[in-house]
Amino acid sequence: MILLRRAAVPAGRRFCLRRLGLWVGVLSGTLELNNVSSAIVPVYARADIAFDRGEGAWLISTTGERYLDFGAGIAVASLGYSHPHLVEALTRQGQKLWHTSNLFQIPEGERLARRLTEATFADLVFFSNSGAEANEAAIKMARKWQSVGGRPERYRFITFEGAFHGRTLATIAAGGQAKYLEGFGPKVEGFDQIPVTTIEAVEKAIGPETGAILIEPIMGEGGVRVVPPAFLRGLRALCDAYGLLLVFDEIQTGVGRTGKLFAYQHSGIHPDIMTIAKGIGGGFPMGACLATADAAKGFTTGTHGTTFGGNPLAMAVGNAVLDVVLAPGFIERVARLGLMLRQRLAELKDRHDAIIEEVRGEGLLVGLKVKVANADFAAAARKEKLLTIPAGDNVVRLAPPLIVSDEELLEGVRRLDAACARLEAEATAAAQKGAAE
Ligand SMILES: Cc1ncc(COP(=O)(O)O)c(C=O)c1O
Repeated sequence: MILLRRAAVPAGRRFCLRRLGLWVGVLSGTLELNNVSSAIVPVYARADIAFDRGEGAWLISTTGERYLDFGAGIAVASLGYSHPHLVEALTRQGQKLWHTSNLFQIPEGERLARRLTEATFADLVFFSNSGAEANEAAIKMARKWQSVGGRPERYRFITFEGAFHGRTLATIAAGGQAKYLEGFGPKVEGFDQIPVTTIEAVEKAIGPETGAILIEPIMGEGGVRVVPPAFLRGLRALCDAYGLLLVFDEIQTGVGRTGKLFAYQHSGIHPDIMTIAKGIGGGFPMGACLATADAAKGFTTGTHGTTFGGNPLAMAVGNAVLDVVLAPGFIERVARLGLMLRQRLAELKDRHDAIIEEVRGEGLLVGLKVKVANADFAAAARKEKLLTIPAGDNVVRLAPPLIVSDEELLEGVRRLDAACARLEAEATAAAQKGAAE
């Protein structure tokens, strides 16, 4: 183990030593990144693995180990890694033009917006750089709609417990989770959070200042909690009755992930505004806020904007992702694989009912509610060279790339089986040790 104290190392040499630490780690066969002080703000609990490259649904570590990736960079790498069509689109655009600013026309952005609107309820698109920024746009858009409609007092949103909408000041207020709000000053005003229970309870929460309802059709970070389609239909009816806008956060569920292009399409209704990110970039950072022409009517010239959002590089990649996802049969295949995965996981639950409590989800966004700590489960899966993502409600999230093969999906289930067996063996050993003491 090499431990370098920052203070003991002259500033100019830190970079070299950091690289040396990495190199020694690689030579010794274990990559101990945490041995060396990092210059990155420590807000993430990172596993001690770094990846060098990816191929399809597989990630290859800097030490040459192959991991089957059922996390897809938190539901981002929709087409897996090194997808030839994405690589080609990115390199072609990269050689031509990266960025022009939104002072000029961006034909690839026009094309992507047109394709998104043709495939959805929406008439207009605002491009952002991330999910949280797409939600910021949606929140501002809904408030502005009420304001230009002569109801500026209707700036409040009803949001739901267990939600996650991002890490900006407004989106942590929308998400309402104490752990994300703590220490960041007064919570941004205007978000009233209630549990997902009955439509009558939502109706009671509507006040004279309520202007919109914001919800994820499936709460991903909150533990892959599927909101019943009947509840979503009830929200639509309430919004219509009370003059509110319905906003769906499809940042995690969008772009084919749930076996439909967008999760709202399972419910038979549509929102007025929808945010997307993650899967539309396939790993390139981008997001978008889609809206009906009416909902977007307050977003006139100068009312909102971004420097990077919708730049030519992002737009080229977004179009390339859509080329693949909209190809005939692609999304139907995701739906079929999702069904197969959930069936196999149900069998796994029967075999390991001391470990798995529930299987939930839609398409290739699946949650295993576990009876051990979800972080321990994810660590056990990692020992089987399978990557998963912990989520709220003690759930382990599975979100493989949408291009995963049938065989890789079954291989993932085999590795989950082995992880369960490993955890059971550990529990038995601990119990025997306890009895012997
Ligand atoms: C449903 C949902 N909304 C918003 C966000 C925030 O997106 P970003 O991290 O790109 O800002 C996420 C990210 O996990 C998400 O899952």
